Amino acid sequence: MKRKVHITEVVLRDANQSQIATRMPRSDFEDILETMDKAGYYSMEVWGGATFDSCLRYLDEDPWDRLRFIRSKVKNTKLQMLLRGQNILGYKHYSDDTVRAFVRKSVENGIDIIRIFDALNDPQNMATAIDECLKAGGHAQGSICYTISPIHTFESYVELGKTLEKMGCNSICIKDMAGIMSPQVCYDLVSALVKSVNLPIYVHSHSTTGLGPMTLMKAIEAGAAGIDTAISIFSGGTSHPATESLVYSLEEMGFDTGVNLKVCQKINDHFKPVQERFLKEGGLNPSVLTTKIEALNYQIPGGMLSNLISQLTAVDKLDRLDEVLVETPLVRKDMGYPPLVTPMSQMVGTQAVTNVLTGERYKLVSKEIKAYCRGEYGAPPAPISKELMEKALGDEKPFEGRYDDMIEPEIPGAKEYLGDLAESEEDVLSYVAFPQQAEKFLKDRREKKALKVSYSIQEVE
Ligand code: CO
Repeated sequence: MKRKVHITEVVLRDANQSQIATRMPRSDFEDILETMDKAGYYSMEVWGGATFDSCLRYLDEDPWDRLRFIRSKVKNTKLQMLLRGQNILGYKHYSDDTVRAFVRKSVENGIDIIRIFDALNDPQNMATAIDECLKAGGHAQGSICYTISPIHTFESYVELGKTLEKMGCNSICIKDMAGIMSPQVCYDLVSALVKSVNLPIYVHSHSTTGLGPMTLMKAIEAGAAGIDTAISIFSGGTSHPATESLVYSLEEMGFDTGVNLKVCQKINDHFKPVQERFLKEGGLNPSVLTTKIEALNYQIPGGMLSNLISQLTAVDKLDRLDEVLVETPLVRKDMGYPPLVTPMSQMVGTQAVTNVLTGERYKLVSKEIKAYCRGEYGAPPAPISKELMEKALGDEKPFEGRYDDMIEPEIPGAKEYLGDLAESEEDVLSYVAFPQQAEKFLKDRREKKALKVSYSIQEVE
C-alpha cells in the first residue's frame, strides 16, 4: 500500500505573510474556499501568525469573523493556525488567562490544529497553550524552531521533541522559518526524531535559499508525516515550495498525497490575478520571489535581512550594512543564541544596527533586550554574556522562576475598560492582544453600525 503523506496548504497564512506582508483581504479568497476544501489537503493554514494583527491594522476586518467565515466554507479540511506560545499572536508575553482564553476561542471559532512555537524553544513558554488546546479538544502541534548555532545540536532538538511528547502534543513540527535547513540535515533530523519520538513529524520550510523543495523531499524520505506547501503562483522565494510540484513528484515516487492536481489548477487560476494585482500595485516586491543564498552565508532569515536594509536606508547609512552583518551574529551569541524568529529576529537586528551606528557595543540597549535579560521572555538557549547582562541591567537582578506567573490576569481589566464597546469575549481578546488597533477597530465598527441604524430609520420613514 502507498504511504500516505499529508499536505498543508499555506497560501492564506504563511505565503500571504511571506510575499505580500499579510495584506490579502477576505475578498481575494472568499470565492475559492469551497474549491480548496475539495483539493484533498490534510489541512489549510489560514490564521494566526501576522494575520490577526494585519486584519485589525490594515484590512479593517474582524480577524475572528474571518476565521468563522473560512470555517463556514471549508467544512471537511482541517483548519490550522500558528500561535507564538505565551506571546499568542503578539510580541510580548501575555498572562495565562489571556493565553487560555485565546486558545479556547480559536478552537471554538473553527481551528482544528494549533501549531505552537516559542522563539527560544523554551517548553515552558508553550506549556499553557498546549494544555489549553488539548482541553478545548484541539490538536496541539508542538514546534521545534530550527536554527544553526554551536549549542543547537541534534541531541538538543530530540530532547525538545521528547519534552513536547511528554507535554501531550499530538504531533511535532520542525519549523525552518529561514529556509536554511539543508536536505541532508533535514533527513538526519527527521530520522532521529522518528526514532525517538512516537508522534507524527511535520516539516515547515521556506524557499528563500532554494533548498526548500529538496529539504521537504528528504523529510518525506526520512519518514515525516507531512509538509507545508503553497499553491504555485504564491510559492518560491521567501514563500514555500510549490504544492503542485511536490504533489507531482511525491505521487510519482509512490506516495499518496490525496491531493487532486486538477483542483489545484483551479485554485492556482483563482490566485493568479490576485498576485498580479499585488505586483502592479506595489504590495509585492519582485525581489522576494528570487532565490537568495545570503541567508545561508549570514544565517540571517530573508525577512530580517530586508529589515536591516530598510532600517539603515531610513537613516541614510546603508554603507554600514557589512558591519551590521558582522555584528548581528555577535549580538546573537551574547544573547545566548536565540533562533532568529519573531520577536527575536527584530530584537537582535535592531541591537546590531544600534551597536554599529553608536560606535560602541551596548551603549544603548533596547527596552526589549533589557526585558529579555530580566527573564521576561523565558530561558535563553545558552546563558547571556556577562558583558550584555551588565550593560543591560546594571545592578538589577534577573527574575527567578517563571516570569508569566507574575503577570496579572489581563481580561477582567480589559472588559471593564471596553464596557459595551466589546460585544463578545473575542472583542476583549482582540483588545488585550492589540490594544490600540482593536480599540480603533471596535470604535469604527460601532460608528458604522450607528450609521446603518439611522439609514434604516430613514428607510422606514
Ligand atoms: Co514560515
